[in-house]
Amino acid sequence: MLNADEYKGWVGVFDSGVGGISVLRALVSELPNESFVYFGDSAHAPYGEKTPAEVLDLSQRIVERFMIAGCKSVVIACNTATSAAAAQMRATYPDVPIIGVEPALKPAVLATPDGTVLVMATPMTVRLEKFQQLMAEWGSGARVIAVPCEGLAARIERGRLHEPDLKELIESLVGSYAGKADAVVLGCTHYPFVIDQIREVLGDVPFFDGGEGTARQLRRRLAACDLLAGQDAQGAVKFLSSKDTPEELALYQRFFTA
Ligand code: DGL
Repeated sequence: MLNADEYKGWVGVFDSGVGGISVLRALVSELPNESFVYFGDSAHAPYGEKTPAEVLDLSQRIVERFMIAGCKSVVIACNTATSAAAAQMRATYPDVPIIGVEPALKPAVLATPDGTVLVMATPMTVRLEKFQQLMAEWGSGARVIAVPCEGLAARIERGRLHEPDLKELIESLVGSYAGKADAVVLGCTHYPFVIDQIREVLGDVPFFDGGEGTARQLRRRLAACDLLAGQDAQGAVKFLSSKDTPEELALYQRFFTA
């Protein structure tokens, strides 16, 4: 699927499926001169309900292919894969800027010093040490409640975001916090695509996600490594999927332009 040097000098971006496209949008907006090859591992979604070893293995295979294709940098556009695989990936490719995404707990807590912050994330993200460290660092100022949202990423992955079953699922996951949360962290890159539906359930409170912070971090790392594309470079975006059908790629395109 990825040939040697096919994407030389591009940035490789991946997620378990469509979710990372919410990060990709922030990347393209922050770095319009860069070219991005996006790989959605939709054949293996959801990652958040697998074991960390499985997610590490899947992530390793994708990053290996990006390296063969000549990518200059990698963005792990998935909170779950960042928790399970970023450290290992950075150790394997120490010279490649590898940027991860993590739940935007810090900005949410700083903006909500006396209130309750609800963190929605996959079961694996909530369980793993990386998030526990984030909680230890930022969880004491505001009252932070982490909710493992089993099934939500998988449901978003199927598209048709305005059908009633999706809203019902969100209600069953976080409906009991309606009126009790002062801010919400979208700790899975799939969730920004259903922010309106979540807002309908939880109310019109501030929402935080990691997309823009990740884009700024990519800019900093590329600049530090002298890898930024020139101002006159023409940026591009290419979509690839492990579920390699025209319908799936059309779905990615719809999420990108939504
Ligand atoms: N979008 C991913 C995340 O940010 C993974 C969702 C999943 O596949 O479970 O965690």
